[in-house]
Amino acid sequence: MYVLGIETSCDETGVAIYHNERGLISHLLYSQVDMHSDYGGVVPELASRDHIRKLVPLIKQALQESQLPSSDIGGIAYTAGPGLMGALLVGAATARSLAWAWQIPAVAVHHMEGHLLAPMLEDNPPAFPFVALLISGGHTLLVQVTGIGCYQLLGESLDDAAGEAFDKTAKLLGLGYPGGPKLSVLAEQGVPRFKFPRPMTDRPGLDFSFSGLKTFTLNTFQNTDKTEQDKADIAAAFQLAVAETLSIKCKRALQQTGLTRLVVAGGVSANKQIRAALNEMADKMHAQVYFPRLEFCTDNGAMIAYAGCQRLMAGQQQDLAIFARPRWPIAELSKV
Ligand code: KG4
Ligand code: ZN
Repeated sequence: MYVLGIETSCDETGVAIYHNERGLISHLLYSQVDMHSDYGGVVPELASRDHIRKLVPLIKQALQESQLPSSDIGGIAYTAGPGLMGALLVGAATARSLAWAWQIPAVAVHHMEGHLLAPMLEDNPPAFPFVALLISGGHTLLVQVTGIGCYQLLGESLDDAAGEAFDKTAKLLGLGYPGGPKLSVLAEQGVPRFKFPRPMTDRPGLDFSFSGLKTFTLNTFQNTDKTEQDKADIAAAFQLAVAETLSIKCKRALQQTGLTRLVVAGGVSANKQIRAALNEMADKMHAQVYFPRLEFCTDNGAMIAYAGCQRLMAGQQQDLAIFARPRWPIAELSKV
């Protein structure tokens, strides 16, 4: 079955075509980063309008590049949440309307399930069960995964998500938007001579808290001469603190569940130092870590097409209503 995947939950318009046997056929991404960078962050109304402009042309292009007539598409998968309501509605309304016109099923995909399953698009996909660390701009989740749709929440951030902490810290250092990648580039020029806290690692449990790190950054920055080297050193110390905190919690999650496979996905999983810290921890634990390729760490249509394909193949689909849920706990998903 060929599945058209549509992602519009935030600031990237993603479209992909995935086939259950042939794999990924085509994937296209339009990033709104340049537009939002003028404002220092995502402007929801502008995001929605830009998805409207870009989505249908991208769908046409994906069909053209894959040389498939639209009649070959057997189902449509779209991100229904969590995300920005206006942005989600563009994808949901387009997907639902196309599915109705083409007389095929449409299925609503949970954005974080998309991230969680993104490593399944690689040559060496993880087998179930595994622990998943999902680190994006809106969420930080530790999940025990026993199958598609079988997600038990082990821990989550009580305040800022990991990506949000990167973005806010980058803003404090005057790096602009999107902060995560910019901060990680700057961190490479620095030495972590400041000792940042590893939040919530001194007590048991698998929850996270990253909001204190930005206050720590601000206070540390104000006590320096604010040179470029100071900024780079702070970026390095911040990044090391996040990497070590994530690593400590993942180690704990593997110990607690007795599992030996760890999936790490979401935008922040593109971070080199975080990848290195998790690889090192897993090696010591004799565990295996699975990351998506870099372009599928951040938002994309391929992960949505893949996740939707699994649900459509199992006979799941949405009714004719346009379904979008800006807040949607991952543990509420149904089993496939
Ligand atoms: O998964 P994603 O593309 O969108 C959401 O679902 O939120 O994640 C975006 C987040 C942003 O906060 C961005 O700053 C962060 O991922 N990010 C990074 C890196 N690349 C993206 N953070 C740290 N290092 C990176 N290399
Ligand atoms: Zn995402």
